[in-house]
Amino acid sequence: MTRSPEDPVSDRTAETGELSAKHGSQVTCRTGSEASAPLRETLCGRPRNVGIAESPVRTQNLMTALRHRVSAAAHEQVPHANPLSAAQMAELVERAIRWSPSTALDIGCGPGDFSVGLASRTPVGVLAIDLNPAFLERGKSTAKGTPLVGSIAFLERSVQGDEGGPFDVVVCIGSSGAVGSPRDALSRCKELMAPGGVFVFAELVWTSEPAEGFLAFLGIERTYFWLASEGEAVFAQSGLSVEYECGASRSSWESYEQAVLSGRLKLAASLQPEEGEAVRNHATTWYSNFEKHGRRCLGFNAYVARHAED
Ligand SMILES: C[S@@+](CC[C@H](N)C(=O)[O-])C[C@H]1O[C@@H](n2cnc3c(N)ncnc32)[C@H](O)[C@@H]1O
Repeated sequence: MTRSPEDPVSDRTAETGELSAKHGSQVTCRTGSEASAPLRETLCGRPRNVGIAESPVRTQNLMTALRHRVSAAAHEQVPHANPLSAAQMAELVERAIRWSPSTALDIGCGPGDFSVGLASRTPVGVLAIDLNPAFLERGKSTAKGTPLVGSIAFLERSVQGDEGGPFDVVVCIGSSGAVGSPRDALSRCKELMAPGGVFVFAELVWTSEPAEGFLAFLGIERTYFWLASEGEAVFAQSGLSVEYECGASRSSWESYEQAVLSGRLKLAASLQPEEGEAVRNHATTWYSNFEKHGRRCLGFNAYVARHAED
């Protein structure tokens, strides 16, 4: 297994730079049903307790719509919705295409950066799914302005078991919540991988033991995420072999959190007072918890893995 030197405890400056932009894309978008999403307060976070007096169903829809708006605004100034650097994302793309894949599934594709990266590098058909229509629109727009050698179908839907795989590449970057816990995501994604397939997974990890107060704030058990040092062993328990691992650097995390905070506050300022206040509170509460706890105990690690038997 190769480990990138840019690990979560390094203070090295994050490399920057967008994936190259080209054009000539083949892009489609279909709409599917929306499933409930589990906890995702930390990345693509959602405001809670938004006080909109409506019927429960309408209120739920409004809250979902606002959540999606907040998430899109939070990531307006960043190329992807996670704290990895652009160079790390590009490296993951290169590792994913090593075995000339013809099919790929990007679960929780967000703004579509990774899917576009794949389809611009190799003639692969990518199925990019997400529940956030604003992200899907951004993905389609990026794809249209990029010369693709492959194709991307952006779909508004959740993982439902009828994705049509197996896929040569399965991608789940910061999106394990679309499937369940991070461990659930490993098993589910393994089932979606073709023999000889590649799995690109990234998620939060503990870089040191979290404080009880932080766990209570997140609403999770300590075991929800694994320790950074346990990654390979956890993958092995799911029958997966990690071939490459890298982690967001502190500076990359910092720039990401600053951009997310500023995007959320900018949106809050444009909303009606009650909604704006809820979004502002959510943004500042998360950021102060990140400052107090997250900086010390959270990392974000990416893994490229294959079936252990390959
Ligand atoms: C942290 S963001 C990561 C986005 C993207 N992978 C990236 O790295 O830029 C998580 C994404 O998962 C999406 N998501 C959450 N629950 C989902 C579900 N049940 N089905 C599909 N996408 C989901 C969110 O809308 C969001 O775009």
